[in-house]
Amino acid sequence: MPHTIPDRIVIATHNQGKLREFQALLAPYGCALISSGQMGLAAPDETGSTFAENAILKARIAAQETGMVALADDSGLCVSALDGSPGIYSARWSDNGDFYPAMERINREIGANPDRAAHFITVLALCWPDGYHETVAGRVDGTIAPAPRGTGGHGYDPIFVPNGDTRTFAEMHDDEKNAISHRAVAARILVEKFFAHRKS
Ligand code: IMP
Repeated sequence: MPHTIPDRIVIATHNQGKLREFQALLAPYGCALISSGQMGLAAPDETGSTFAENAILKARIAAQETGMVALADDSGLCVSALDGSPGIYSARWSDNGDFYPAMERINREIGANPDRAAHFITVLALCWPDGYHETVAGRVDGTIAPAPRGTGGHGYDPIFVPNGDTRTFAEMHDDEKNAISHRAVAARILVEKFFAHRKS
């Protein structure tokens, strides 16, 4: 089987926002996207021990179940002083989607440690129905603010200050964050490697 990109692929997500974001990203390259949620597939358990394992697992199941080329992502926040936590458990540290307790926990566990470095990471996996897969990663480095600031964005944005700025992601305009975020970096690499040559 040739490992090329067809005109339509499936994205392993049940999140409408993520579907729209990737549709907009890939439309200029003549690639349409449908989501595993739209196709009625269940979301698999994320049993991997790394971001890459989880992204590959999600893409592989979607590819197997649909017979299409599948794209999946896995992201999270890694805090140096906490040995990389919450990492792959970033979503699971929330309280039913409320990230304020998780942000408080991060600051409590950092305590007096002067090392406040952290990074967001995204791994994107593309998987073909025969199981062949490719991954790309994007990362943005920064520090953890001592208390949440700002109302924009989502998740841990109110405590993440990207290097080179004094504002948290939640204090930036969406466009500013989206230009430098881990997801943007990964998406740019993905497009360049697999989609750019499709542009007419
Ligand atoms: P997902 O793999 O994209 O669903 O991300 C998993 C979790 O990582 C999310 O629930 C958030 O807690 C966290 N996360 C990922 N990206 C971001 C971001 O850009 N800002 C804040 N939190 C994020």
